[in-house]
Amino acid sequence: MENTNDVSEHSASTDGYPPILDACCGGRMFWWDKQNPLAYYADNREVEKGAFKNNWNPGWCVKPDGIHDFRNMPYDDKTFKLVVFDPPHLTSGSEKSVINTNYGLLNKETWKVDIVAGFAECWRVLDDYGVLIFKWNEANIKAKELLREFPVEPLFGDFTGKTGKTIWVTFMKVPSGG
Ligand SMILES: C[S@@+](CC[C@H](N)C(=O)[O-])C[C@H]1O[C@@H](n2cnc3c(N)ncnc32)[C@H](O)[C@@H]1O
Repeated sequence: MENTNDVSEHSASTDGYPPILDACCGGRMFWWDKQNPLAYYADNREVEKGAFKNNWNPGWCVKPDGIHDFRNMPYDDKTFKLVVFDPPHLTSGSEKSVINTNYGLLNKETWKVDIVAGFAECWRVLDDYGVLIFKWNEANIKAKELLREFPVEPLFGDFTGKTGKTIWVTFMKVPSGG
């Protein structure tokens, strides 16, 4: 798979995609291997190393394999076996703060529609019996506010992190009748 930002190159075919999609990879901070060949890393932006002052991680950058909008992704249905969805979770704060430049800021008016649309797209591109991992942080919005809007129930999930406000939730796409 060539690294490319040209979404149109990928619009027609599932051929050549690795089995995992990181739907909004950012700086790939939670990856053990940040160049894992099993994963296709996507985001809606590219950020050069050093573009923001970032003392805690000076090497941080956003270099996706492809640029997409997670609300409208260019992949065929059921392309991936595992999708990880870690969208921005903050609606408040300065756009220039380190956390917001790193993780992005939600639109105050449309955040719920945007995340629900992102979840629906992650679900669409997930194969039958594929796994979707959703990560959320409750700094501004409770997870249950979103989870009740999703069309499927999680299998399991739990809170983690220093403040206990981060939740990782696991879903499986069990085909109807399966
Ligand atoms: C919480 S961060 C992801 C952090 C990442 N998981 C990591 O380990 O570093 C959220 C990412 O979503 C991206 N993003 C925001 N809106 C998006 C959209 N509509 N489509 C795709 N990516 C988007 C932001 O650019 C940001 O990099």
